[in-house]
Amino acid sequence: MALRDNRFGREAPEGFAPPVPAALRAFYDIDAHSMLELEGPHHRRLRGLVLRAFTSRRIKALVPDIEAICDDLLDGVADGAGTDTDLLQRFCQPLPVRVISRLLGVPEEMCDQLLAWSNAMVAVYTPLRTPAIEAAANSAATDFAAFMRSYVEARRTTPRDDLITHLIAAEEDGEKLSTDELISTCILLLNAGHEATVHSLGIAVKTLLEHQTPHGALADDRIDTTIEEVLRYDPPLHFFDRWVYEDTQFMGHDFKRGDKIGLLLGAANRDGDAWDDPDTFTPTRPVKQNMAFGAGIHFCVGAPLARLEMRVALPRLFARFPALQLSDAPHYANTWHFHGLSTLHVRLREK
Ligand code: HEM
Repeated sequence: MALRDNRFGREAPEGFAPPVPAALRAFYDIDAHSMLELEGPHHRRLRGLVLRAFTSRRIKALVPDIEAICDDLLDGVADGAGTDTDLLQRFCQPLPVRVISRLLGVPEEMCDQLLAWSNAMVAVYTPLRTPAIEAAANSAATDFAAFMRSYVEARRTTPRDDLITHLIAAEEDGEKLSTDELISTCILLLNAGHEATVHSLGIAVKTLLEHQTPHGALADDRIDTTIEEVLRYDPPLHFFDRWVYEDTQFMGHDFKRGDKIGLLLGAANRDGDAWDDPDTFTPTRPVKQNMAFGAGIHFCVGAPLARLEMRVALPRLFARFPALQLSDAPHYANTWHFHGLSTLHVRLREK
């Protein structure tokens, strides 16, 4: 309810925005054009333009690319057949960044660099950040923005069939994205999209193996239901906050303008009033909207892409290694913003 209520939002109400630390100037210059940090007409315009380029047709057209990337990664995993392998490192981590690079039209040789920038930037979202973390985030933001600027300029003169070119062309009511908005949007797509997808894949494999889920749950007519249940049962993002825009009462609590409330998506997905037997993983559970991708005006723009990656990757992994087994208890990483595994050791046996 709070996610869908316009008394609450992501952008600080006037007079409440915390001062931008000088050490994070370049980082916040990018954040200033990020739809995730905006509300009202500014958010609507940016999101509308991005959705014009990020269409379901374009996402579906990525299937052959995602299949090829999965097969290439699984060939690499198979080289270690018979031994223990960390599937998180070998499969779940490289897949989403390669898909987003292909979507954006950025060369795949850049993946490691994009990830290094993205990791340094998202590290800022920890409450225990140090000056060294801030300095690394700011320098990553500077370098990432410079790289994207040159890329956007190249696509302006030499258009291709990639998302950057389509974002440049996207137009609504005579409005287009400025270069700064294009840069922030591309960085947001990578930063918001990469790690959550890595962890959703890792958690999905862990959950399916731990519950000895029959392979039938990955069949074409059942996979979508299974994926929704994995995302409900153990989502990779648990916490988002909202500013309060007016003195108000909500669910019996009094709030003042400028207060912040924490919304626990993971807990909402286990709410006994909303779900039967919520703590049980039931891959046949009838699908209804869960909170893994949020709700309301900030509902995840990348949800169709994330679901598609899982839809392609999971059946391919289990078809290739039908006797896949956990070889060590998976551990969750001790991180603030993302809920995900630090390792996923499995024993492989190829078909
Ligand atoms: C399983 C993977 C993913 C999960 C669980 C996830 C989750 C979320 C959630 C919960 C929000 C809303 C945050 C809020 O309300 O404050 C969100 C927003 C967003 N996500 Fe995702 N996400 C995933 C993958 C992706 C991917 C692959 C992309 C892009 C390629 C992406 C791009 C975005 C963007 C741009 C927003 C901001 C939308 C807005 O502010 O209007 N996400 N995501």
